[in-house]
Amino acid sequence: MSDKTEKNVQMENIVSLAKRRGFIYPGSDVYGGLSGTWDYGPLGVQLKRNIMNLWWKMFVDDRDDMYGVDAAILMNQKVWKASGHVDTFTDPLVEDLVTHRRYRADHLVKDAGFAVDGLTNEQLNELIIEKDIKSPDGNDLSDVRTFNMMFRTFVGPMQGEEVDVNNPLDEEDNKKQKNTTKSITYDASSVSYLRPETAQGIFTNYKNVVDNFYPDLPFGLAQQGKAFRNEISPRDFIFRSREFEQMEIEYFVHPEKWEESFEALLKDVHAYLEALGLPKDKIHELDVPEADRAHYSKRTIDIEFDFPIGREELMGIAYRTDFDLKNIHDNAGKNMEYMVKGTNERFIPHVIEPSFGVERALMAVISAAYREDEVNGEKRIYLAFPEHLAPVKYCVSPLLKNKPELVEKAREVYQILKKKHGNVMWDDNGNIGKRYRRQDEIGTPHCVVVDFDSLENNDVTIRDRDTTEQTRVTIESLAA
Ligand code: GAP
Repeated sequence: MSDKTEKNVQMENIVSLAKRRGFIYPGSDVYGGLSGTWDYGPLGVQLKRNIMNLWWKMFVDDRDDMYGVDAAILMNQKVWKASGHVDTFTDPLVEDLVTHRRYRADHLVKDAGFAVDGLTNEQLNELIIEKDIKSPDGNDLSDVRTFNMMFRTFVGPMQGEEVDVNNPLDEEDNKKQKNTTKSITYDASSVSYLRPETAQGIFTNYKNVVDNFYPDLPFGLAQQGKAFRNEISPRDFIFRSREFEQMEIEYFVHPEKWEESFEALLKDVHAYLEALGLPKDKIHELDVPEADRAHYSKRTIDIEFDFPIGREELMGIAYRTDFDLKNIHDNAGKNMEYMVKGTNERFIPHVIEPSFGVERALMAVISAAYREDEVNGEKRIYLAFPEHLAPVKYCVSPLLKNKPELVEKAREVYQILKKKHGNVMWDDNGNIGKRYRRQDEIGTPHCVVVDFDSLENNDVTIRDRDTTEQTRVTIESLAA
């Protein structure tokens, strides 16, 4: 068996496998799709849950210093003003002057072979002019503009009721206004945003948890949930989507002790990456220089991974100082100070934030598991997931589906395994060879087949996905 392994992985193979085998489909596909959105099929949702549940187990359930929360996606607009997202959560945008397609300026400059880290819009503009960088269609580009990535929406039945000249609408809305006698516009106070990070829902609940649970410092609040960013050019499969999920922890520490918590959490992050089955040599730490750090961060380490699309950010861990709690303290007029038990010492805690994107973790897991080899002279594709992540743990088949005695026995075995492992699949389509190929492609670690000997000996063959070796085991031992 010659193992080509991950080195030759092509993104297209993974995208095609993900669709062919029911992991991930393009969003709204039947209506022509919606760029930057993806839907999860039966296997994709299971794999995603396994990844998220493992995170929750390692970072919340197995620890004494973490508390889970699940905040609303829609939040008071003041949250996003105070956090800096209304003013600074922007990407540089350029427009193709002929096709009017819009692109991220830094992506075009990077694709043209120039370093973009830390460049301002003005500097990007200069580079585009100086190096004569064109759009992907070969046309001239507009000046670089800033584009806010938050999805704006309106809460409550305010639409069409009040005029607000300070709240400019998009072109479509403006046209509508001209064509109607009644003005259609929105009340600025009803504006909200689909959250661009889950973090703010944690900060707004910090005081609730402190008052209810009296945790000792350091402690963390953990949350998993959807985040939305109106990416200028979503690309690279699920890597850069407009709707995605995050798994975030805000870990509250004494201001003078942030470094030790930062190091400890970084170690925990690596333990989680190992449990995801990601090879160490594909994981890299990038100490992000000041110019590239988010406005709230005094230190950030990005964990980069060698994806098939290249080395890119998988997750980040940031020292957010007291930026967010202080904002709430100052803007909402609520006291965010922590009082150390048994003392009069009070301060606003500082924060370490490990922030994972679920889709990027999932893409790393699939690409690390992807293998191609040859079995009996035929090319085989398989996903070597760690067993605890595999969406299907066992597949059970009768050797022949038209032999009722085999089907009956196989059903018995199926029920035994289902009771024990939950994620067990029944497959009696096609011949055994085809069933094995199908199960290999979805990463099922064990395939169990009931044959005529099983009726005599109360045993089955069990095939290992990675080695393709088959052994006979008793049905009793499967139940044990
Ligand atoms: N609260 C901090 C924060 O949101 P971030 O670096 O902007 O920090 C954290 O995002 C993680 O979210 C990233 O490391 C990445 O895994 C994921 N992420 C960000 N934008 C994404 C997108 N458009 N599509 C998929 N995942 C994304």
